[in-house]
Amino acid sequence: MRAVMGKQYSRLAIIGSGSGSNAQAILDASASGALPLEVSCVISDVADAYILERARKAGIPAIHLDCAPFKTKLDGAAQDRALEILRDHGTDLVALAGFMRMVKQGLIDAFPHRILNIHPALLPAFPGLQSWKQALDYGAKVAGCTVHFVDLGMDTGPIIVQKAVPVLEGDTPETLHSRIQEQEHPAYLEALRLVAEGQTRIEGRKVIISP
Ligand code: GRF
Repeated sequence: MRAVMGKQYSRLAIIGSGSGSNAQAILDASASGALPLEVSCVISDVADAYILERARKAGIPAIHLDCAPFKTKLDGAAQDRALEILRDHGTDLVALAGFMRMVKQGLIDAFPHRILNIHPALLPAFPGLQSWKQALDYGAKVAGCTVHFVDLGMDTGPIIVQKAVPVLEGDTPETLHSRIQEQEHPAYLEALRLVAEGQTRIEGRKVIISP
């Protein structure tokens, strides 16, 4: 293995609420060896989310996490359970992939600068929900995606990788979202590889990448 700076990680958990196309890209890259991370487990707060089916098909533990009574965050007993699952599966890095809840202090403290998220906009523009629609409604000419470390804010953590796409005349929310999603998968793999190989270091808001 070539020498790398900083820490290295090996076992990645993916947490998501939806269809899991980013999770699939990660599962495929992990299985082929293109990504130097093993997927430890896939967790979803939605019992019948397709992301869990993708994990089962890949032979990876697929775990439903009941987050009640909370509707928009991962907190309390559900957070404790999440920590237990992550520990039980020997996880040292976490990727949020379409997880529709805010993570809270307990998870962030347990995985400091080891939780990544992908957001379908060029942050800090258009945080929050349906960012592709926000970009279109705003009249932006360029849209894209951002992979960042997770902090307590809504899509506010230090940025690791961004990829831009044009907004075209005649775009609908669907066409723009799908153009962004094509870039999400390579962006997430690139960011995960950098973090896994210890090539990132955080200085304030900045993620410094060392080759
Ligand atoms: C992606 O657009 C991601 O940027 C956002 O949620 C969506 C998840 O898509 N956070 P998928 O479940 O990975 O297909």
